[in-house]
Amino acid sequence: MLARYGAEVPRYTSYPTAPHFGEGAGAPLFAELCASLDPVSSVSVYLHVPFCDRLCWFCGCHTKQTRRYDPVAAYVGTLTREIAAFRRRLGFSPRLGALHLGGGSPSFLAADDMRRLAEALRAAFDVCPDAEISVEIDPSDVTPAAVAGLRALEMTRASIGVQDFDPVVQAAINRPQSFEVTRDVIAMLRSSGLVSINIDVLYGLPLQTPGRLDATVEKVVALQPERVALFGYAHVPHVKKHQAMIRTEDLPGRNARLSDAERASRAFVRAGYEAIGIDHFALHADPLAKAARSGRLRRNFQGYTADPCETLIGFGASAISRFAGGYVQNTVPTGLYRDRVEAGEPAAARGYRLTGDDLIRGHIIERLMCDFGLDLDDLARRFGAAAEPYAREALRLAATDPDGLVRVSGRRFAIRPEARSLARVVASWFDAHLRSGEARYSQAV
Ligand SMILES: C[S@@+](CC[C@H](N)C(=O)[O-])C[C@H]1O[C@@H](n2cnc3c(N)ncnc32)[C@H](O)[C@@H]1O
Ligand code: SF4
Repeated sequence: MLARYGAEVPRYTSYPTAPHFGEGAGAPLFAELCASLDPVSSVSVYLHVPFCDRLCWFCGCHTKQTRRYDPVAAYVGTLTREIAAFRRRLGFSPRLGALHLGGGSPSFLAADDMRRLAEALRAAFDVCPDAEISVEIDPSDVTPAAVAGLRALEMTRASIGVQDFDPVVQAAINRPQSFEVTRDVIAMLRSSGLVSINIDVLYGLPLQTPGRLDATVEKVVALQPERVALFGYAHVPHVKKHQAMIRTEDLPGRNARLSDAERASRAFVRAGYEAIGIDHFALHADPLAKAARSGRLRRNFQGYTADPCETLIGFGASAISRFAGGYVQNTVPTGLYRDRVEAGEPAAARGYRLTGDDLIRGHIIERLMCDFGLDLDDLARRFGAAAEPYAREALRLAATDPDGLVRVSGRRFAIRPEARSLARVVASWFDAHLRSGEARYSQAV
């Protein structure tokens, strides 16, 4: 099954996926989609910080290592101007329901720059008192001064990169990080106020034996984060050149990846976490676990979320915005992004206007990725008669599925529990864009 289905398929953090956005379509589409926003609904905001003070060889993010801080401070200035220009374009301050700072390493920002960003956001948005404010954090950056900056932002969740605690694996990915430093950073964040913690762990890393991964999982559990993300390392050296520093012969094979993912997943569940979607775990009381139990789990560019906002505004180089009617991505090179914003032009470079077909397929794919199933009656309630051909398509796929990955009981199309690690493959059956274009993805498991 793995040999047959271990193909490269998207992670479906959007539908269609970013490689299908059209070049040059960004700026006019962004203007049009902004005009469709109303002052009543809340929006989410994503800020991208494409800088790190180190370069991990496994990294697949839009970031670059910088030893000097001046370009980072200058970038924060540009971000604040992009946020202010968005507010002017809109003519009102939208309600902000959730904010995520990602990268790169936003934790690399000096406390004063974090304060500048917080002020720019408060000047442009009406921040809801219960807004979730999450920040991606490299523990090696966190000092007491940085914590003061995070407090100025009123951060409510820290998402901490661990990957693997074993020194041999860390040497193979150029990411030294001791358990003690990670533990102390978490203690510092927790004592600074009400902060919930997410930890990122990777399987499929070079020289990562089952024993090394198991020991990492045990240490992660000892830190008692509210959430864990367990991602499969995506080795795409054709896209991320520095990944060529990782020796292919050190990487675990497909079967080892699957058994590692399954074993680590069972260990988190044994330790009291609830499994969420394909790669997340959360304690029972965490909002993500609550959303999953009640069928309200969503998937966006950051992965799984309990955030119900339909609109996500992305600021910064490469950031993607999602509106009810389409997607827009800012230009990726940091220099070009700066030139556009400083010239008073929109940073939007690529975009995609959603069709009726995309909306229904996107909904089906999101439900399969979040709930491993699809309620065909719910589909009909949402989309009316337009849903009928898609329900027929689902029934036909279930009837012709040679390996029994899915089953239909009553009006529910569901991925079998044993096939859940192939959820991306089943989702891809509904992807009308998959075979068009040049896009390449990471392996399904
Ligand atoms: C922006 S980083 C996290 C914050 C911070 N920069 C750090 O590294 O601690 C986001 C996460 O993406 C995941 N990630 C990065 N490159 C990846 C890859 N090639 N495949 C799978 N996951 C990857 C890692 O788990 C990482 O923690
Ligand atoms: S994993 Fe995090 S710290 Fe490492 S290069 Fe990527 S974004 Fe930077």
